[in-house]
Amino acid sequence: MTMIRKGVIPAAGLGTRFLPATKSMPKEMLPIIDKPLIQFVIEEAINSGIGDIIIITGKGKRAIEDYFDTSPELENHLIRTKKYELLRAVQDIASLADIHYIRQKEPKGLGDAVLKAEKHIGDEPFAVLLGDDIIMSSATPCTKQLMDLFERYGHSIIAVEEVPNEKISDYGIIKGRETEHSVYRLEEIIEKPSLEEAPSTIGTVGRYIFTPEIFNCIKETPPGKGNEVQLTDAIRMLMEREEVYAYAFKGKRYDAGNKVGYIEAILDFALERADLREAILSYLQHKDNY
Ligand code: UTP
Repeated sequence: MTMIRKGVIPAAGLGTRFLPATKSMPKEMLPIIDKPLIQFVIEEAINSGIGDIIIITGKGKRAIEDYFDTSPELENHLIRTKKYELLRAVQDIASLADIHYIRQKEPKGLGDAVLKAEKHIGDEPFAVLLGDDIIMSSATPCTKQLMDLFERYGHSIIAVEEVPNEKISDYGIIKGRETEHSVYRLEEIIEKPSLEEAPSTIGTVGRYIFTPEIFNCIKETPPGKGNEVQLTDAIRMLMEREEVYAYAFKGKRYDAGNKVGYIEAILDFALERADLREAILSYLQHKDNY
């Protein structure tokens, strides 16, 4: 069984839901307090044992490359001002992983973005992690949970969770036959269905393990919803060629690609931090007095 060694992080989208902030700043660099979204995802990949990371970038995404690069001027300043803790934080970022960048010239869809990684991935299974989704797990990171299942099943596997009715039409919705607790053999997957069309209330979230056959499927997938090459459509094709599984992962997911999910993430993370918790709680308790 081939081990998962490589991870793809698509980050070439336009981030229109966060305009105007994302006009000149990548959505993936929006901070959860003092750490950009994409760093959470990279840390999840590394904590899952993935050391080779491919970020798919596009126009206006230079800030991502700069962020994961060394920054001698800033480091010298932090040394001069004896801010050693911050210095370590800044240096750690540059040494996080072996990061490669591939450009998607136009944002033609998530499927197209993943296809850009084909040459770097070659003929081996790999992980895909979307920067919009931040997933906190108490013990095993979500990607590692999928990798462990991949080791047993040897087939592509996608993370899913229960979705409330009013949000069904924002998700890829699956139908599956449960093969063991929380694991489903995929039988159908539909991108952003209406409530009536939806085959269940189980939706995909942004973590996947794919066999390399997904690349052939993407190549044969015509543009779908929004005139974009949808990864969901390619997964449906993959499902017709080989077994694909879905796993209701353990953990809490924040959909940081939309405003409410983003704010929830900031609040929860602040309340988890010893340096912020008291001040934020006090603010929330007293804010109606203003
Ligand atoms: P989204 O659709 O959530 O991101 O794609 P978006 O298009 O940037 O955001 P909105 O909807 O306009 O607000 C999920 C992930 O896939 C990447 C995005 O960067 C995001 O991380 N993506 C999407 C690409 O890399 N290329 C694309 O063509 C589309």
